[in-house]
Amino acid sequence: MMNNMIAQLKEELSKMVESAKTIAEIEEVRVNALGKKGRITALMKGLGKLQGEERKEQGIALNSLKDEIKNLIDKQTAALKKQEMDNRLASEVLDITLSPRPQRTGHIHPISQVIEELVTIFADMGFQIAEGPDIEDDYHNFTALNFPIGHPAREMHDTFFMPEDKDEEGEEAKKLLRTHTSSVQIRYMKENKPPIRRISMGRTYRSDYDMTHTPMFHQIEGLVVDKSTHMGHLKGCLSDACKAFFEVDELPVRFRPSFFPFVEPGAEVDIGCSRKDGDFKIGAGDDWMEILGCGMIHPNVLKNCGVNPDEYQGFAFGMGIERMAMLKYGIPDLRTFFESDVRWLNYYGFDAYNRPNRATD
Ligand code: PHE
Repeated sequence: MMNNMIAQLKEELSKMVESAKTIAEIEEVRVNALGKKGRITALMKGLGKLQGEERKEQGIALNSLKDEIKNLIDKQTAALKKQEMDNRLASEVLDITLSPRPQRTGHIHPISQVIEELVTIFADMGFQIAEGPDIEDDYHNFTALNFPIGHPAREMHDTFFMPEDKDEEGEEAKKLLRTHTSSVQIRYMKENKPPIRRISMGRTYRSDYDMTHTPMFHQIEGLVVDKSTHMGHLKGCLSDACKAFFEVDELPVRFRPSFFPFVEPGAEVDIGCSRKDGDFKIGAGDDWMEILGCGMIHPNVLKNCGVNPDEYQGFAFGMGIERMAMLKYGIPDLRTFFESDVRWLNYYGFDAYNRPNRATD
């Protein structure tokens, strides 16, 4: 009779444990079964009234019921606690990813854009890139480029000289800020044997300041040396580059004789434009705009770099990067390039995802 009751109670309590779905509910079951006034506790208390063997038997049966139920309750409690924690972790998840900025405000500076475009154009023609230092010596900036010491052409460059270094010997070691990227021609030819086809670009410095001059500006320089390089190559290369850069197929290009000590013959290149009614337009009309200097490398320069002028000849060209940007994008004042005014950059700058015109995939 008693055993029957225990089995029933066991079944009943087990079901209650199973259906408890919260910590509060399972606690209720625990109190109900094992608490001071709980049902198992009550039965245990009743053992006192029994005698001998029966008391012993019932005692064992009740104890094992108690253990079993306690075990079930503990297990269910642990499971519910774990579930509760899982729910909390899921609901309190901390998103540490940075949300996207509402607006992209950065812009590519027109100088960087023009460099990218010109590099792409010349890379298409097989040019490689070389670099040289901003702080140069008199030898690489002038003497080796066939500017003899004391030659008036040196004066035209408004050079920034570094303070005299007492240990340095002679004029040629004098340090200065390079006035043009032509100094890289010397460094490159001394280090590399022809055939040569390279460009270099970077900062250049001259002491000058007005609408079209700033003390620091950028140039891109080209150098080609080979056994049969001639003026026709120079003209073809620069005409094609100008057409590609200004995106005008029928661009008139004019080569006008000019003097640079390191080239012979030397020329300045003009492109056709119109200034009608105060409107500047590239590629049409009958006006001309000077854009770069170039020429066939002077034999003295080749000799200074250990290249035999009887075997090799070549051409060089140099252009101002800001000037190219001003012309292509209609920027009127050179000084604004360096004022770091974000409003200017927002207006004239380029989207960060913009790619150079000629970029191929
Ligand atoms: N270095 C010259 C300048 O700065 C440009 C130039 C480069 C001319 C190469 C001829 C050949 O004015």
